[in-house]
Formats: sequence, C-alpha cells, structure tokens
Amino acid sequence: MSNTESATRKILVTSALPYANGSIHLGHLLEYIQTDIWVRFQKSRGNECHYVCADDAHGTAIMLRAEMEGITSEELIERVSKEHQSDFARFGVAFDNYHSTHSEENRLHSERIYTALRDAGHIATRDIEQMYDPVKGLFLADRFIKGTCPKCKTDDQYGDNCEACGATYTPAELIDPVSAISGATPEVRSSTHYFFKLPDFEHFLKHWTRAGHVQSQISNKLQEWFESGLNEWDISRDAPYFGFEIPDAPGKYFYVWLDAPIGYLASFQNLCDREGIDFDSFWKKDSKAEVYHFIGKDIVYFHALFWPAMLEGAGLRTPTGVNCHGFVTVNGAKMSKSRGTFIKAETYAEYLNPEYLRYYFAAKLTSGVDDLDLNLEDFASRVNSDLVGKVVNIASRCAGFVKKLGDGRLSAHCAEPELVARFIAAGDEIAKDYEAREFGRAMRKIMELADEANTYIAEKEPWVLAKQDGREQEVLDICSVGINLFRQLMVYLAPVVPKMAGDAKAFLQLDSLDWHSRHEVLLGHGIAKFKPLMTRVERDKIDAMIEASKEDLAEEQKMKEAAKGPLAEEPIAEEISFDDFTKVDLRIARIAKAEYVEGADKLLKLTLDLGGETRTVFSGIRSAYAPEALEGHLTVMVANLAPRKMRFGVSEGMVLASGDKSGGIYLLEPHSGAEPGQRVT
Ligand code: MSP
Ligand code: ZN
Repeated sequence: MSNTESATRKILVTSALPYANGSIHLGHLLEYIQTDIWVRFQKSRGNECHYVCADDAHGTAIMLRAEMEGITSEELIERVSKEHQSDFARFGVAFDNYHSTHSEENRLHSERIYTALRDAGHIATRDIEQMYDPVKGLFLADRFIKGTCPKCKTDDQYGDNCEACGATYTPAELIDPVSAISGATPEVRSSTHYFFKLPDFEHFLKHWTRAGHVQSQISNKLQEWFESGLNEWDISRDAPYFGFEIPDAPGKYFYVWLDAPIGYLASFQNLCDREGIDFDSFWKKDSKAEVYHFIGKDIVYFHALFWPAMLEGAGLRTPTGVNCHGFVTVNGAKMSKSRGTFIKAETYAEYLNPEYLRYYFAAKLTSGVDDLDLNLEDFASRVNSDLVGKVVNIASRCAGFVKKLGDGRLSAHCAEPELVARFIAAGDEIAKDYEAREFGRAMRKIMELADEANTYIAEKEPWVLAKQDGREQEVLDICSVGINLFRQLMVYLAPVVPKMAGDAKAFLQLDSLDWHSRHEVLLGHGIAKFKPLMTRVERDKIDAMIEASKEDLAEEQKMKEAAKGPLAEEPIAEEISFDDFTKVDLRIARIAKAEYVEGADKLLKLTLDLGGETRTVFSGIRSAYAPEALEGHLTVMVANLAPRKMRFGVSEGMVLASGDKSGGIYLLEPHSGAEPGQRVT
C-alpha cells in the first residue's frame, strides 16, 4: 500500500447550490457528476469525505415565481427540493446531506458571520437610489426593468443591456422604462443599504488567489479584477424579500448571495448534528481538514473573492480549493430550448441510462475551465465502444467458461501474475489522475488497460481451446485472468459508474470494490451468473430525447402563460384617487334591443334602457353573443363617456365586459333586483 493510500484525510466537499426555481438540466449535471466522482474516489481511498449541498432558496426570483404559481415561497422551495433530490438520485449523485438555505442552521450561521463582520468594522451603510415599482411596492433589480434601448431604439429590452445592439447602460437611461413585473413606470427612490467592505481584504485576497487555491486560469482572471479595483458589495435588500432579515436592521434582508455560500456551512452543520461529526474541527481557523468547493465559471467572483473574504473576516478557515469547471455545450452550441438541446435531467433519464452521461463527462473532463461539448454522436459511439465494447465484453467473454468449467469458481492459481500485477500497479497512476481531477486522462488509462485485457483474451482464444479435449484447465485459467482484469477495471471505474460497479460487485461476489481491495487477487473465488452490465446506447432514444425536450419547452411556455393569468397580460393600471373614480358614472342598463350591424363583423348595436332614458351603444361583443340571447338582460354601462362617432353611427357610452386573448368575452351582469338607471359605485 502506498503512503497516500494509508493516510486518512478529512475532506469536506460541496457543489454549488442550485436555485430553487428551476429544473436540473444537463449543464448542472456536469458539476454534480464531476463532484460526485471525486467524492466517490476519495471514499474509495478510505478518506473521511463528506459531500454536502442544498437548494439556494432565497431571493426575488423565487418569491415572484411562487406568486406566479399562486403558492407560497415555502411551498415552492419544498416542491423543487424534492424534484432536485430525485433528479440527483437518478444520476447517482450521492450527497451525504442535502439541505436548504431557508433553514435555521443557515439563519444562525448567516447572523453569526454578519455580526462578526460588523463588529470587526467590515460593514458600511449608505443610501442608494434605485428604481422602484410603485404598483408592486418593490425595488427593481435591473433585469426586472424593461424599456427602449437608448442606443438603437429597439423596444422591450432589459434594464442592463440591449439584446439587439449589445449596448450596456443603467436602467435610468432606458427610454420609457417599465417594470417587467407590473408594467408600471418605475420611480427612483432612495433607501439605506448595507455593504460588505471587500476592499478591506484586498491584500489578503491578492495573496490567497495566488496561493494555489484556484486554478491558474482563474487566478489570472482574478488579477484583472484586482486591477480594475474591488468595490464594496451591497449585501442588503429591502422588504418584501424572501430571505433572512438582517439582525439589527428591521425591513432589510440579506441579499441571496450573502447567505447562499453560508448554506454550505448550514448543510454541513445539519449533517454534523445528525451524525455527531465535529463541525468546528472542519471550520475553525487552523483546521487541518480540507474543504473544496466545486463551481461553474460563472460564479467565480462569489467564491474566490467574496466568500474567502467573508470567512477570513469572520475568523473562520478559508477553502483549500475552489475547483472551477466550464460550461456544457451540446453539439457544439449553447444549450438551446428550440433545438431541443436544453435537456432536463428528468427528460434524459426517461430515455437514456444516466451512467452513459457520467462516463461521457468523465471521459472529457480535465482539471481546467474549458467548456465541455456533449456531442451526441460522439457520446453514443464513445459509450458503446468503451463501456460496452471493451469493459463489459471482457466479463461476458469469460464468465460462461468459468461457470461451465469451474462450476462458477475461478482457477485456484493465477496464470498471468505479471499481467495482473501490472493492472494493480496501474491503480496508483490512475489515482493520481482522479485526485487531480484529470478524469479524462484516468479514463484513457483505464481503456488502454481494457484494450490489453481484450487483446490477451483474443490471443489466447479460449473459445477455440474449449473445443479441444483436455484443455479445460487452461481455458479456466485464461478466463480467470480475464475476470481478475475485469475486476481491476471495475475498481477504477466505480467512482464514475457506481450502478454498474454495484452490479459487477454482485457478479464478482465481492464485499468491496474500494481502491485497496484490488490488491488481493481472486483465486478459487466463486462468481455469480453473468448478467449484461450495460447495454448499448440506442440512437433512436437520443432522437426521442431531443424531441421530448422540444415538447418540454412548449409545455413550459403554456404553463407560464396559464400561470401569468390575465393580470400579467394586462397589468393593473396606474393608481387613481377616489375622486378620479367617481368621475366615471356607471349605471345599470337593460338591453332593450340587440341587432347585427351590417358590414361590421365584430359589433352589435345595443339599445339600452336606463330607466327613462335610452342610449345606443355599439359594442364589440358579436363573437360571443347572439343578439336575441341578450335582449332583456341587465348589464353595466359607462353613462358619461363622451359620444364617439363611428362608421355605423354614434356610440353613446359603453357596456362593461371582460375579454381575454383567446377571444372569450364576458358581459357584466348585476344580480337580479338591480334596476335600470341605478348608479354603480
Ligand atoms: N445558486 C447559485 C449558486 C450558489 S452557490 C453558493 C447558482 N445556481 S445555478 O442553479 O444557476 O447553478 C448551479 C451550478 O450549475 C453553478 O455552479 C453553475 O455554474 C452550474 N451550471 C449551470 N449551467 C451550467 C452549464 N450549462 N454547464 C456547466 N455548469 C452549469 O448559480
Ligand atoms: Zn440597442
């Protein structure tokens, strides 16, 4: 056993906390699979390794999403958490704990860290001016403001940049800005905000980011950020906000990104409380334990600057490593909903074996931050040729002979001790690749070994020998070597394909496929009946998955439209005073007569009885009502609307009806007993 193998390390590992308002997709999965492989490898090596994660449950987006669905934020995050956890389970991502940032542990740690930072003088307060939605009663983040681009005049652009010409600007520069939430014209309002004084940590961060805690590409990027200067970070948001209230600041909430990374501590705390692990031995300043965060390249700023600074400022230890990965593209392009390449975890799992994806990602992953392309053609051929064609093939070629000639028992002696020893020794190099997150390199080494094993069997041709008399032992010896080689490969592949490894373990009748278990060669060992451990990727399943992803999109759009309801289609108009309201004279009217209007396919001509007075009104309700069905009914009309001259005559007021985009029209009708001419207030 080598030195690194015997020393037990204490390791805490996290993946970024997924937002609680969306589904897990293949892009996310790159991260969770990468992390899970690394964690499984550490556990296989006998290290004490804890893998925690949580849903990132706070913020305006989640609050609005819940509102749109007509449920509470708590109900939304509860439902999404279940969905996320079931997706992760299907892909074999085995957290030791999955928690939520909306938890008591997180409130406690957030308050503690904030208070420590405040008491050490790292928090400042300042009034800032911001766009405010007077209808919603909400300060608006830039992405919740829309308007006309000040540069190219394209309308319906977001508050920070124009999708048409690429210009960037502040929401204040937009022409005719409106709140994307209510449609109201935003106002500029001032309020007090709390800031984390990041510049206090410039010296610390410059050192920390060059001390091997981040990849060199990231470190270089960070130096650019240092050059443009560190700014104080706004960590507060005004009510209403779904989050934690700041202890000494009623009505002010922690910005979601303040308590999100603290969610790592919260989830770990929750695990410690359950399993009796010593939290402080991992997080106190001089801790010998290792802490690694796996993240995507879009959230480096938060993890490599804010987070270590917060920890340092609060007197806690800082991460051993922030391991950053690139983004998933599909068939060479950004995942796209319309092309059907924005594939949800759930959709993928309906069509394809999750372990295919785990293997493919592993085969392409490096320790760098380059994007990773999921080329679906390459995906199918790689999985088929490597896992099925090479690895499973070894076992399936040998198992039958062991059953038949050894009665399910491997040969009592090893016919190729050097070959087997070489496979065992290769584990040390492969382990180094895993440790360094060079999974692609590890997979290449494993597949080279698989090639060797197949070559060995092909050259020995046990199926030819099996037909010759008296060579049974020889055949059993060859196939027993084959099974031993297969076993070595499964030890090396187990972190990547845990389900397949579990099945292989049952086939091999072993208690463990852990890294050092491989040193014991299987002699005279019984094996179970062979069952196919993995089947080939079927290309029509890939096509079906793409089609289903397109349908997911259509479904989603329908749901969004339905959830929006009429309110979102036509936002509530600007507030009016009571006096404004009383200016509108609404009266009960009886429809005395209703007739078609020649040449007008939308209108009906109504003769309305106001209890003594008669009015003629042209109303666009023809598509919904036959004239005779209306006669005698009561309705409500605006009686003091200035007469409008129309092509067919003068309209003296209007009747009240609601309408929707799909063409439904509903005339208002008072309860019976109302009298024509009565005022409606
Ligand atoms: N909630 C924040 C993280 C808070 S961590 C304290 C967040 N959530 S996320 O759901 O948007 O993303 C979760 C992780 O998935 C991030 O690390 C992100 O980089 C990663 N990915 C999201 N889309 C991705 C791809 N298309 N490709 C690779 N990783 C991607 O950010
Ligand atoms: Zn523009």
